[in-house]
Amino acid sequence: MGHRYASILETVGNTPVVRINNLAPPEIELYVKIEAFNPLGSVKDRLALGVIEAAEKSGELKPGQTVIEATSGNTGIGLAMVCAQKGYPLVVTMAEPFSVERRKLMRFLGAKVVITPAAERGMGMVKKAVELAETHGWFLTRQFENEANPDMHSRTTAREIIDDFAGAPLDYWVTGFGTGGTLKGVARVLAKERPDTKIVVCEPDDAPMLSSGQSQRRNPDGSAGAAHPVWKPHPMQGWSPDFIPKLTGDAVDLGVIHKILRIASAEAMRCSQDLAKKEGIFVGITSGATFAGALKVCAEASKGSTVLCMLPDTGERYLSTPLFAEIPADMTAEELDISRSTPSSQLALAG
Ligand SMILES: Cc1ncc(COP(=O)(O)O)c(C=O)c1O
Repeated sequence: MGHRYASILETVGNTPVVRINNLAPPEIELYVKIEAFNPLGSVKDRLALGVIEAAEKSGELKPGQTVIEATSGNTGIGLAMVCAQKGYPLVVTMAEPFSVERRKLMRFLGAKVVITPAAERGMGMVKKAVELAETHGWFLTRQFENEANPDMHSRTTAREIIDDFAGAPLDYWVTGFGTGGTLKGVARVLAKERPDTKIVVCEPDDAPMLSSGQSQRRNPDGSAGAAHPVWKPHPMQGWSPDFIPKLTGDAVDLGVIHKILRIASAEAMRCSQDLAKKEGIFVGITSGATFAGALKVCAEASKGSTVLCMLPDTGERYLSTPLFAEIPADMTAEELDISRSTPSSQLALAG
């Protein structure tokens, strides 16, 4: 049936669940939910729409008011789309090490991007956003604590999963966490409606905050009071900031997490590359990392199990990162051989 959308915002969500055919072990049904199908290419489009519409409804966000958030990128890109469509100016604070494509994308969508020092990490960009919001009377979306974030996932992501697996087995659901919005919002629905589904959470091997069992210091509003002691820098942009976000802590406190897995960076990169080369699924580093976790789950699952793995964003956001470090811009020896195998249109190469 034909369908016309009233605005780009109506295209958020309803992402496809896709079967893995070449990388799944035999006798395991492995599926991925590809969040790159969201209009701006990541799971964060859901959060962006959810928090802005909740704040409009509550009256916290006034027409034309500036929106501000601290974000490693995808939330800013999603917010930039929502703010462009709805006419809110947007300012984003972002720590220096995150990829340059992300900054440029946000600016292309009309946002202002304020870069904070690398040494101050996630905590620094959050502090800057809070300060700017207080000073200028801007609306701070507070992605790490805002209940509208998991609420959106309970209303959309979780419902989509429930519908897509209605009448079918779903033994494991595998995710990572950035804010924990996906985790909290989906886990509480699965725990209630699909108690048969085991919830598995992945985190970087270099920043095993949940695995460590060490608690997070918090301010009275739930925001982090200090960096978590076991956190170390890792390349999984969008996962595990240098603190356990309140929403992630809430999800842990629900007591419904079956297992926490630590994922090495090299495994994450390899899985992202394998998904592209062997399944034609082009996704980012945290998707590779979650998929690496899903493969570990598959290795231990009994025959005939069904596993669903979240893939949070598109690979196009990582061209300047280590994910593409080994992808050459010039022709390789093999490509040159192909070129030289017929006479026409050969490049004149120096030397
Ligand atoms: C690339 C990427 N992966 C995973 C996530 C995790 O999503 P959530 O914030 O819902 O925990 C995010 C967002 O933080 C992200 O940008």
